[in-house]
Amino acid sequence: MKITVVGGGNVGATCAHILVSKNLTNELVLVDIVEGMPMGKALDMYESTPIEGNDTKVVGANGYDETAGSDIVVITAGLARKPGMTREQLQETNAQIVKEVTQQVAPRSPNAILIVVSNPLDVMTYVAWKVSGFPRERVMGMAGILDTARYRTFLSMALGVSVKDIQALVLGGHGDSMVPLVSYTTVSGVPITHFLDKPTLDAIVKRTRDGGIEIVNFLKTGSAYYAPASAAVEMVEAIVKDKKRILPCAVYLQGEYGMSDTFSGVPIKLGKKGVEQIIQVPLTPEEKAAFEKSAGEVKANIAKLAI
Ligand code: NAI
Ligand code: 2OP
Repeated sequence: MKITVVGGGNVGATCAHILVSKNLTNELVLVDIVEGMPMGKALDMYESTPIEGNDTKVVGANGYDETAGSDIVVITAGLARKPGMTREQLQETNAQIVKEVTQQVAPRSPNAILIVVSNPLDVMTYVAWKVSGFPRERVMGMAGILDTARYRTFLSMALGVSVKDIQALVLGGHGDSMVPLVSYTTVSGVPITHFLDKPTLDAIVKRTRDGGIEIVNFLKTGSAYYAPASAAVEMVEAIVKDKKRILPCAVYLQGEYGMSDTFSGVPIKLGKKGVEQIIQVPLTPEEKAAFEKSAGEVKANIAKLAI
């Protein structure tokens, strides 16, 4: 197993560190354009392996030859939000970065599975899919796991129960119109509406939608990275261990959920082949309308791309 992480900033380096700590790969390559930075971080991580008791070879690079033959490539390169910015304001710059990265990665690792993290997530995943020419099964975006984790955390805070006992799904685009599915939210199988009233649930849904900017406003110089890195690692682990996890990920829709030619977060079965199944769940009329609005916004932004 060989994994490349492109972008050695907050999300990329944290993701790489967790991958190394969890011993999920024999070789990990960290790429960034900042001279020396990925080499320094990679060597530092490599030097942690005798202490951690794992044996991942960690390589840093400013180019792509070292990435050749990767099984999985996680793309985190690009600008992050600052206070007052939407994810969509990153689109023009990050589309060029993700395009350039994909052009370098795809020919060197033609069988790789691409996991995109860069924002705006759904549009950047489209860019990687389009530029790579890879089948839709091998190009996916990370966001739904993060948004669902935030939703579960806020529910756990309100209920005073373990996050482990809260099952939930957040679908749609990774933006302000994402769709936390209250109808599929349970506490150990018991519907959430048994525990929380509508105003409380509405407030938690809103906080989930604003989860990214809440962190940006605290950090001021960038955006969240611990939970995003953990979420990307959960996807990598599902693939590496062929776990057949059911996880919300951004995938290319061809008629599923009534949407075509766009990327959006939906539940998928994730295993060694990548997207092994797209799972269609019935939605309430309100959830269906919210999903279509969210996926429609992504589609409109894809139409603005100049790649
Ligand atoms: P960061 O600024 O800490 O790191 C980004 C890195 O990308 C920098 O080190 C930069 O030098 C590198 N980079 C820029 N252009 C590059 C290129 N052409 N080739 C290789 N590397 C290049 O930002 P952070 O916090 O790591 O976020 C990265 C991206 O992930 C942002 O677009 C951010 O919005 C997004 N993000 C998405 C999340 C999601 O849920 N999908 C969650 C968190 C962040
Ligand atoms: C987040 O939701 C920045 O998209 C990133 O934290």
